[in-house]
Amino acid sequence: MSENIVKLAACSKKEQYESLLQQLEALVAGENDVIANMANVSAAIKEVFGFWWVGFYLVKNGQLVLAPFQGPVACTRIAYGRGVCGTAWKEARTLIVPDVEQFAGHIACSSLSKSEIVVPLIHDREVWAVLDIDSSDIATFDAVDQLYLERLGQLLDRVCQVDKNR
Ligand code: SME
Repeated sequence: MSENIVKLAACSKKEQYESLLQQLEALVAGENDVIANMANVSAAIKEVFGFWWVGFYLVKNGQLVLAPFQGPVACTRIAYGRGVCGTAWKEARTLIVPDVEQFAGHIACSSLSKSEIVVPLIHDREVWAVLDIDSSDIATFDAVDQLYLERLGQLLDRVCQVDKNR
């Protein structure tokens, strides 16, 4: 297995995601540790797309707790229903925020973050983690990001051994 994630030059976002997903499937296959997989997945997304912040929060004891990420330091705990992450958890659906200043209750871990997508990882209808990606540009994320990041969430749900119903 190659240790490098290949970035495709001059390709559409859809093609970049197709290639990334294929590589990530190979990368996480055979590894069921959730922290190890989240660490590599956040690094790979950051490397391919260069987003400002890419990372995960795990549901633990009724809160979201910071998990592997790439980017500047971030807030460590988020309550149910708070911020974009806590709302995506509560509503068990992906949230795309084109302008974080327009999202009431947005938690600003960094003033440079301008837009955001949060994808819940769901098992048996229970959210057990969220993938959060921040961009330093306005309106970075759309339905293409949602489609592929949700597939990525399903991949992690399939391979990772973790108590997903806590
Ligand atoms: N902005 C998020 C908080 C997490 S940081 O962006 C890494 C939110 O509103 O939930």
